[in-house]
Amino acid sequence: IRCQSTSTDEPKAKMNLFDNASNLLTNLLSGGRIGSMPIAEGAVSDLFDRPLFFSLYDWFLKYGSVYKLAFGPKAFVVVSDPIVARHILRENAFSYDKGVLAEILEPIMGKGLIPADLDTWKQRRRVIAPGFHSSYLEAMAKVFSKCADRTMLKFDKLLEQEESAGGKTIELDLEAVFSNLALDIIGLGVFNYDFGSITKESPVIKAVYGTLFEAEHRSTFYIPYWNIPLARWLVPRQRKFQNDLKVINDCLDGLIQNAKETRQEADVEKLQQRDYLNLKDASLLRFLVDMRGVDVDDRQLRDDLMTMLIAGHETTAAVLTWAVFLLAQHPVKMKKAQSEIDAVLGQGRTTFESLKKLEYLRLIVVESLRLYPQPPLLIRRSLTSDKLPGGYNGDKDGYEIPAGTDVFLSVYNLHRSPYFWDKPNEFEPERFLVLKESPGIEGWAGFDPSRSPGALYPNEIISDFAFLPFGGGPRKCVGDQFALMESTIALAMLLQKFDVELKGSPEDVELVTGATIHTKTGLWCKLKKRSNV
Ligand code: HEM
Repeated sequence: IRCQSTSTDEPKAKMNLFDNASNLLTNLLSGGRIGSMPIAEGAVSDLFDRPLFFSLYDWFLKYGSVYKLAFGPKAFVVVSDPIVARHILRENAFSYDKGVLAEILEPIMGKGLIPADLDTWKQRRRVIAPGFHSSYLEAMAKVFSKCADRTMLKFDKLLEQEESAGGKTIELDLEAVFSNLALDIIGLGVFNYDFGSITKESPVIKAVYGTLFEAEHRSTFYIPYWNIPLARWLVPRQRKFQNDLKVINDCLDGLIQNAKETRQEADVEKLQQRDYLNLKDASLLRFLVDMRGVDVDDRQLRDDLMTMLIAGHETTAAVLTWAVFLLAQHPVKMKKAQSEIDAVLGQGRTTFESLKKLEYLRLIVVESLRLYPQPPLLIRRSLTSDKLPGGYNGDKDGYEIPAGTDVFLSVYNLHRSPYFWDKPNEFEPERFLVLKESPGIEGWAGFDPSRSPGALYPNEIISDFAFLPFGGGPRKCVGDQFALMESTIALAMLLQKFDVELKGSPEDVELVTGATIHTKTGLWCKLKKRSNV
């Protein structure tokens, strides 16, 4: 790959993404003075015909691992490089905030961890992260299993009905099913509330989906008209959004009130030593309310819960969706997974302990996250000027970026980089068993599992930031182990009982993105009972 250097800053294309006034001004002041960074020239059609991250990948192969994307007066630095990613996410993490992402999410998540300003983030991260301790995760394994079981029972019932009509197969949109399953799990795990969305519809569930839908609309619509005074009252979809928020907020406020009324204060260590497997309420909310010495106001708690509800729902549903999509195209790997499940679980439920033996299933989950990372881009804005390292195939001296530079860190590009992965676009869960070598890239430590001893799942430490399914550095996902265990257990319980095929061809499954990569019209599959168990 040759990097095409240019010092001009001519507008190359128009863009409809994440526009707003302050951002525009910042970029007017800073755009183009980023040294000799290559500039991607994209046709406008590239942006509208397909998801943005596809075009970012093509430009990565053409312009290198750090390039500038100029759209009219706006400029983004696109990073597809583990050395630069490590610098932004870990080594110089506090020189960046979430930029446009925070602007979009703030109306929904308030001062929750994802959009929070640095001071609030520091206080709340210190309190929330200890909530994901191992006894909590062990108790959650039971919740994951229980909720997955409910889903399998629903499939059993549908199949029984089908069998009485002479059929053997049911057709379902598994993406919708996984979305309901993930919602039920996150409700129970975070605030001990059973949405029961596998079996019923409710105003709260509708409001959650409405809010997610609006967040996605905002991330892909180019004029932030929702900030215009009165828009929230005059524009019907904005009125609906305000109503949806109110329904969820009322529900969360009730749960917070309830938890506070039954508060039993204790130190963090004591809280972590509670008998989680037998607690009536093992939720994170219980932990946060009971923590001694932290008198957090209701508004902050609500923002924390809302953030986790949204951050932990669609992401996990997407992992399951793409894992099934990939497995359905690789029946031999599906059979291999089923053999592992039969040997480890038989007909029993997955537990915290059995999870440790389901190695192939765990690798399927991480390989699905490699090919379909959620979200495909991490977004940052520099708070001060910064010197980015050169990376492995950019300018060796690196690049100066001014304060206010918007950065897209393309996890999708990193995960499919031909420099770090053999056959990067192929589904090969086994690849994680042999990742031992470094291709000799200066400044990159290569793959080495011994850097993260005891880790059940490959992570950014093992890969020195070439594999970043949950980000890295201080703002890494707090729910990573929760999500990985949840996905592994749900997948194991599905494949234990059913054979899954796509209803149409893989090409029929159109892909769209908002915060996550999902399908345009659902993941329609055929399910039948496994014949050989
Ligand atoms: C942050 C991915 C599930 C809560 C993040 C980040 C990523 C991520 C990439 C970093 C964002 C950034 O650096 O800009 C995922 C994926 C999930 C998942 C792929 C599922 C497979 C969950 C769950 C929870 C959760 C289940 C909560 C129960 C959060 C929170 C943050 C976060 C609170 C913000 C952390 C901070 O800024 O301190 N997630 N996540 N996530 N995630 Fe997750």
